[in-house]
Amino acid sequence: MADALAFEELSPRHDRTQFSCGKPNLDDYLKRFSRQNDELRTTKTVVVRNAQNPQVLAYYAARAGTVACSAPPRARLPADAKKRLPSYPLGTFHLARMAVDSASRLDPDGKPRRLGELMLMHALKAAHTASRHMGIFAVDVIAIDDDAAAFYRKYDFAPLVDNPRHLFLPMKKISSLLA
Ligand SMILES: CC(C)(COP(=O)(O)OP(=O)(O)OC[C@H]1O[C@@H](n2cnc3c(N)ncnc32)[C@H](O)[C@@H]1OP(=O)(O)O)[C@@H](O)C(=O)NCCC(=O)NCCS
Repeated sequence: MADALAFEELSPRHDRTQFSCGKPNLDDYLKRFSRQNDELRTTKTVVVRNAQNPQVLAYYAARAGTVACSAPPRARLPADAKKRLPSYPLGTFHLARMAVDSASRLDPDGKPRRLGELMLMHALKAAHTASRHMGIFAVDVIAIDDDAAAFYRKYDFAPLVDNPRHLFLPMKKISSLLA
């Protein structure tokens, strides 16, 4: 039987101690900094757990960000995405951290839980909801390495011109995806 997954705002009742995704700084962030950053309102962390168990299986942390259009020191959005946009920095929903616990990739039946995809969709929906209340041009992420960048590209994220690991997905595309 597939497990019931719960997506929740990070809180003291979640168990972060066992989390290990293979990237020590992402483990460290969850264990040492996520709560205090959420309390300071500099990020919002969403965790995934099995409804029966407080252990964190996966998490993402989001905050407000920007991408530059043609503002100095250099253009960042690719030319085809810049048409009719103002030159000042554009607001984004910035996916600051995202990781899946390595031992939790499979459910108790041995099937992939697809937690990365589920979290990304959760974040896109959250960004879309927020965009009803304020201007959000895109969801953006700075991938930790080329492997992570390949994951985001699979979901149509495109690189900014001066950093192939800084990727964005325009809100217009997200709106059509969720329509
Ligand atoms: C990147 C990460 C979040 C992906 O989560 P995941 O649960 O392993 O991915 P899913 O099982 O949901 O995969 C969904 C799809 O993406 C593919 N995919 C997963 N990781 C991928 C990668 N690095 N590159 C390309 N495709 C990838 C899967 O094969 C699957 O494809 P399918 O639709 O053809 O079956 C996870 O591997 C992770 O936590 N990595 C370590 C931390 C990290 O790098 N985080 C990103 C920080 S920017």
